[in-house]
Amino acid sequence: MKKNIWIIANWKSNKTIAEGLDWISQVGSQISKNDQLKVVVCPTFSALSEAKKAVTVGNFPLMIGSQDLSPFGIGAYTGEEPAQVLSQLVDLAILGHSERRQNFGETDEMVAKKVGQALANNITPLVCVQDGQTPVPQGCPLAAYEPIFAIGTGNPDTLENANNVAAKLKQSYGDLEVLYGGSVTSDNVESFIAQENINGVLVGGASLEAEEFIKICKIAGEKI
Ligand code: PGA
Repeated sequence: MKKNIWIIANWKSNKTIAEGLDWISQVGSQISKNDQLKVVVCPTFSALSEAKKAVTVGNFPLMIGSQDLSPFGIGAYTGEEPAQVLSQLVDLAILGHSERRQNFGETDEMVAKKVGQALANNITPLVCVQDGQTPVPQGCPLAAYEPIFAIGTGNPDTLENANNVAAKLKQSYGDLEVLYGGSVTSDNVESFIAQENINGVLVGGASLEAEEFIKICKIAGEKI
């Protein structure tokens, strides 16, 4: 059986709602429908609702993701975005990104709670791990190996190392799909997804330009 390929756009704290909608209409109309090509866009929280509407109205083969969610359920947790509410808008949540661990003190324990909330509310958790040692919480079906030195630097990890870390994660956690992230562009995406143990890519900077992201998706689509 051929493997799924995930192409996930992590916009981080970028794009106004109007800019996001423009990107969605450009990218959505260019992606070919293919059950094994899983394209996900992760806007800011405030753009999620409009993004979801645009994807639904356009009938685009795009999933929507958030970049985080609350470790708690509904209740007195000021400022948090609970999975029960988010589940109306998103299919997936990026959890434990290194920028959250570094800037917001997110710990492995918090990430595990967030994974629990996602799973209980039908949101697919994607846990980012910075190396082969970062734990992937139980029941999490998707992980992304994102070495810190490779994020936003133009200096991706070697194909060999990325594939080895992905293999190690699969050995440790069994039924896990593993993505690579860190300076992925249209120039290197083909080589990363060709690696035996890599099931797709998490794309930051190169996802912001619609044209570049369409290129990345087209290259991936041809490999399925
Ligand atoms: P980058 O970011 O593609 O800009 O390196 C990836 C990420 O942080 O998810």
